[in-house]
Amino acid sequence: MNMKKPLVDEHGRVHDYLRVSIIEKCNLRCRYCMPEDPEWTPKEDLCTTDELLELVDTFISLGVKKVRLTGGEPLVRHDVDIILKTLAERGVELAMTTNGILVDQYIALFEKCGLNRINVSLDTLKPNRFEMMTRRTGFEKVRANINKLLEREFELKVNAVIMRGVNDDELTDFVEWTRDIPLTVRFIEFMPFDGNRWDDNSMVPMAEIKDKIADKFMILRGKDGPNDTTKHYRVPGYKGQFGIISSMSEHFCGSCNRIRLLANGSMKNCLFSNDEVSLLQPLRQGEDLEPIIRDTILEKKPSHAGRFRIAEEKNRSMVTIGG
Ligand code: 5AD
Ligand code: SF4
Repeated sequence: MNMKKPLVDEHGRVHDYLRVSIIEKCNLRCRYCMPEDPEWTPKEDLCTTDELLELVDTFISLGVKKVRLTGGEPLVRHDVDIILKTLAERGVELAMTTNGILVDQYIALFEKCGLNRINVSLDTLKPNRFEMMTRRTGFEKVRANINKLLEREFELKVNAVIMRGVNDDELTDFVEWTRDIPLTVRFIEFMPFDGNRWDDNSMVPMAEIKDKIADKFMILRGKDGPNDTTKHYRVPGYKGQFGIISSMSEHFCGSCNRIRLLANGSMKNCLFSNDEVSLLQPLRQGEDLEPIIRDTILEKKPSHAGRFRIAEEKNRSMVTIGG
C-alpha cells in the first residue's frame, strides 16, 4: 500500500490508533452502557464486510498502525473471523475489547491472527451482581474464558467501570485477584453517555479509587506507555498490576492518538465528540476519503472534544461507540 503523510492534528498529535466498533449489538445489557431500549441503525446504513475493510485499509494507508476491534460486542458480528483474518494480513497490531462471553469459540482464531492483546470487560467478581449490572447471565462463562486466555498467555486486561454504591466495594477484591495472576485490572471512571443515568455522585474519581485501595495495600506507581490512558500501580510481590483510567477527573487528551470508526461507517475524532463524519456515504459514491479524514482530524479539539461540561450535553450511548 502506498504510504502517505501521517494524520497529524493542529496540536501535533499523530493519529495512528484506530478503534473500530464493528457492531452496535451486544449479548449483554450493561446498565452503564446500554439504554433500556436501544435504537438500532437499519442494516442498509451499516458497513458490509467489504466496506468496513476498505475503510480500515484507508486508515492504514494514512499511517494507522494499531487497530482495536470493539462493539457492542465484536464477537457477535458474524463475519468477525473474516475481518480478523484480513487485518492480520495487513501487518497492523491487532487488539480487541470484548465482554468475554464468546471468547472460547475464538481463541484459536486469535492465535492464528496474532491477536494477542485482549481487554475483557468485567465489572464485578460477584455472580449475582453481574446479573444485576448486565441484565443477563454469563458470569461463569466470562471467568472461565479469562482463565483460558491466561493459560494461553494472552496479554490480558480486565476493565471494570466503577460506580458508587454499585461495585465500589470490590476495589480491593479486584486488586487481591492480581496477587498470583499476571493480569492488569483497570478501574475506569464512570462516564456520562446517553441513557446511562450518570450523575456526579455516581462517578468515583481516581483519587478516591486510589485512596480506597491504599487503605488496604501498600501501592507503588508503575510504568505507563507513551499514549497510555491508564495510570498503573502495583502491590509489591503481586504478579499482576492495576491501573486507573481517569477520563473524567483528569483527562489524558494531550497524548491522544485515537481515531474512532463506527459500525455505520462514521468517523469520530474523539470519544466525547458529537460530530460524526460519514465515510460510508462518500465511499459508496466513490469519493476520495483522504481529504474528509484529514479535515476531521484537523478539527479535533485539544481535549474532550472541546466540550467544557461534558456531563450536561448529549452524546450517543456507549454501546454504539465502543469505548
Ligand atoms: N463509562 C466508562 N466506561 C464505559 N464503558 C462502557 N460504558 C462506559 C461508561 N459509561 C467501558 C466498558 C468497556 C469499554 C469499551 O468501555 O466497560 O470496558
Ligand atoms: Fe482522546 Fe477525546 Fe479521549 Fe481525550 S477524550 S483521550 S481527545 S478520545
